[in-house]
Amino acid sequence: MSELAILGGQKTREAEYPVWPVYDERDIAAVTRVIQSGQWGGYPYPGKETKRFIDEFLKLQGGNFGVLMMNGTITMEVALRAAGIGWGDEVLVPAYTFQATATAPMAAGAIPVIVDVDPNTYCMSATAAEAAITDKTRAIIPVHLGAQMADMDAIMALADKHNLIVIEDCAHAHGAKWRGRGAGTIGHFGSFSMQSSKIMTAGEGGFLICQTQEYAYKAASIIDCGRPQDPDGEIVTMGANYRVSELQAALLNVAIERFPAQAKQREEMAAYMDEALSEVPGVRVLPRDERHTTRSFYRYIFAVNPEEFGAEHEVICAALHMEGIPCWEGYEAMQNYELFQPHLSKLAVPSAFPEYFKFDEMNLPEAERACEHEAVWFDESIFRTGKDGVDDAVAALAKIQAHLSTDAGAVTEIKRLIAEHNSSQH
Ligand SMILES: Cc1ncc(COP(=O)(O)O)c(C=O)c1O
Repeated sequence: MSELAILGGQKTREAEYPVWPVYDERDIAAVTRVIQSGQWGGYPYPGKETKRFIDEFLKLQGGNFGVLMMNGTITMEVALRAAGIGWGDEVLVPAYTFQATATAPMAAGAIPVIVDVDPNTYCMSATAAEAAITDKTRAIIPVHLGAQMADMDAIMALADKHNLIVIEDCAHAHGAKWRGRGAGTIGHFGSFSMQSSKIMTAGEGGFLICQTQEYAYKAASIIDCGRPQDPDGEIVTMGANYRVSELQAALLNVAIERFPAQAKQREEMAAYMDEALSEVPGVRVLPRDERHTTRSFYRYIFAVNPEEFGAEHEVICAALHMEGIPCWEGYEAMQNYELFQPHLSKLAVPSAFPEYFKFDEMNLPEAERACEHEAVWFDESIFRTGKDGVDDAVAALAKIQAHLSTDAGAVTEIKRLIAEHNSSQH
C-alpha cells in the first residue's frame, strides 16, 4: 500500500480537476451585446436581459413570479421585508448553513433563532424547529444544503399550523425538486444565489421566487430604491438599490442554457458516487429521501464515523487535499460563530439581545457532530470529470481510511501538520 501523499507518498490524482466557472464564446458574445447596447445598468427595472432571465429561470425552477437582484443574502432580507417581518420578530434558521441565512434576518431587524439539523440530510429538523417556536416566531428559513433538501412536507405543515412565512434558502439547490416541485416554489419565497461558486453563476447575483404577485411587486420595489413596480403605482416601499447590471443578467442567460446538461451529468455521477462510497468502511452516504425527486449538486456531502474510519473530517480533508482531491470539512456550527456571541461579538445586535445570542450555551448536538467531526464536502468539479474523477476521489478516500484505521501515529502526524499550517496562516 503506497504511503499517504500528506506524509510524503505518491498522490492519487496528479491531473487537476476542472475550474469553475466555465465559459465559452457565448458568454463573450452576450457581454459584448450588452456593452454595445449601451444599456449596462439595472435601471429601469427589469431590463431586457433581466426580464429574459426571470422568464427562463421560472421555466426551469417553476413558480410564477421572480425578482433578480444582487445576491443570495439580500434575497432573504427582501423576502422578510416584503412579508412585513422585521423588528423583534423571530426567524428560525438551521445551525448548519452559511452565516448569510442568519444575518439576513438580522439585517431586516429580526432575530435569528438557531435550530438543530436532521442527521440524515444535515438540513433543518422540523421537530427541532417546532420546539423553538414562540409567540414571536414569524418565519422559517430552511436551507437545502449541499445536495439535500429539508423535509418540506414537515416544514410546510409546521408553517400552516403556526401561520409562519417560509423562505427556502436554495443557494445550493438550483434545479432541485421535491415531489416534482422546484425547490423555492413550495414556501412563500425561494432564495437563490448566483455568486461565483454556485452552480449557476454570473459572479454575483440572487434570484427570489415569490409565491404571489403582491410579494413580487413589493420585492421588486424594495430592490429598485422603493419605486413602485405594480401597474397602478400603489406599492411603494422603503427600498435601496439592490439591482444587478444587465451584464450579469446576460451571463446568467448563457449559464441557464448550459445548466440542464450540467445538472444531468452531476446527477448521474452522484448516483455512481453513492454506490462507490458506500463500500468505504466508516463512510455514511446520506440516505436519499424518495420525495426528493431531483437532486442538484452544489457540493456532495457525506459523513464519516470517526471511530471506524480512524480519523475525524479535518484530518481526512487535509489528507484528501494532498491526494489531489478538492474537498472541505464544511461550515462551522452556527452556535460557535463568534459573530453571534455577546461576549465575543463586536456587533451591536447580539449585545442588545443577550437572551437570544447565547449560542455557546445551546444544545445542538446534530449540528455539532456534523460540523465538528463528521461531514466531508466533495467539490462539484469531481463530477465534471466523469467516472474517472469520481473513481480517483473514492480511491483516495479508501487509501486514507486503510492507513488511518491502522496507524494512529499517522493521525497524530497529520494533526501536527495541520496545526503547523494553521499557525503559519496567522
Ligand atoms: C446556504 C447559503 N445561503 C446564502 C448564501 C448567500 O449567497 P450570496 O453569497 O449570493 O449572498 C450562500 C452563499 O454564499 C449560501 O451558501
